[in-house]
Amino acid sequence: MINQLLLPYHFQLYESAAFIQTVDAIRVMVVRGAGAIGAAAGFAMAQACLEAPAANYAAFISHARKTIEASRPTAYDLFAAVEKVYQAGLTSPGAAVTAAQELADKNASDGRMIGETGQHLIHDGYRIQTHCNAGWLGFVDYGSALAPVYMAHRSGKKIHVWVDETRPRNQGARLTAWELQQENVPCTLIADNAAAHLMSRGETDLVIVGADRVALNGDVANKIGTLGLALAAREFRIPFYVAAPTSTFDVTSARGSAITIEERDPQEVLFVKGLHAETGAITEVRVSAPGAEAWNPAFDITPSGLITGLITEKGVITPDRESILGIMRR
Ligand code: MRU
Repeated sequence: MINQLLLPYHFQLYESAAFIQTVDAIRVMVVRGAGAIGAAAGFAMAQACLEAPAANYAAFISHARKTIEASRPTAYDLFAAVEKVYQAGLTSPGAAVTAAQELADKNASDGRMIGETGQHLIHDGYRIQTHCNAGWLGFVDYGSALAPVYMAHRSGKKIHVWVDETRPRNQGARLTAWELQQENVPCTLIADNAAAHLMSRGETDLVIVGADRVALNGDVANKIGTLGLALAAREFRIPFYVAAPTSTFDVTSARGSAITIEERDPQEVLFVKGLHAETGAITEVRVSAPGAEAWNPAFDITPSGLITGLITEKGVITPDRESILGIMRR
């Protein structure tokens, strides 16, 4: 895996030798983003199958499954991947490894298809707003929200991306800005609270964000701040699309309110990480009043009524129950 904790300062690969180490990598966000979490969780489950003692195989992998599922609660790909690999692992550890690899490969091809489908929504000269990181760092390859951007750029369209910094962990500032630079896509970083202002000035043509879980009625859980963007986009009549593979669709959650929202350590709000100007070391600095308390929900729910369409690997659909059930059957 690419160690996302070190980006954009250092590019380093992270190798995990044991299932529990992979779980820890998901929990502390060495690996993050719905698709990448799903792939890592699938491999963690396969690792557990390989590590399980023959005498205690079933109990070991069942316990491992619960441990992986407890690492991060919101991204649905994690649960879907663990279920698939666990079921395969009941046959043999080898079957579990094959299932994990297939899921990872599917994630990459889904991203490519989302890109091909979604690029048609992007016209020459478009200024696109995105939030958090839903590019190839957050997936096995391509990504969700950024896949159409890459394809549009490669096809020669002149585009510009507004990148929300995405407090508190700054996935936009650290990861999306870096990722877009690697792809030579022109982009400008903005503070999260500048997005509505940009829209009000007519400087955003389209919003594309990713998703961590899509409920049956089309409500979407995504990085905290997505709901505010969707509300602003509605006010200024800007199309608001959510890009996600159908592996992110959770038909067992009837609506967004059924989705568990991860709450993370308040330290992430109280402190900010960056590179020390003199020592060059990754350093944490307090950006809040000493003694201040903080609340840190990692995701919010955007109601389906604010979403123009869902860009999936099987096409663009309207965010409603019938369309979602229809696409899941295809
Ligand atoms: O907490 P993270 O960084 O794992 O958050 C997930 C996300 O990156 C997003 O919410 C994203 O927009 C969709 S999934 C790549």
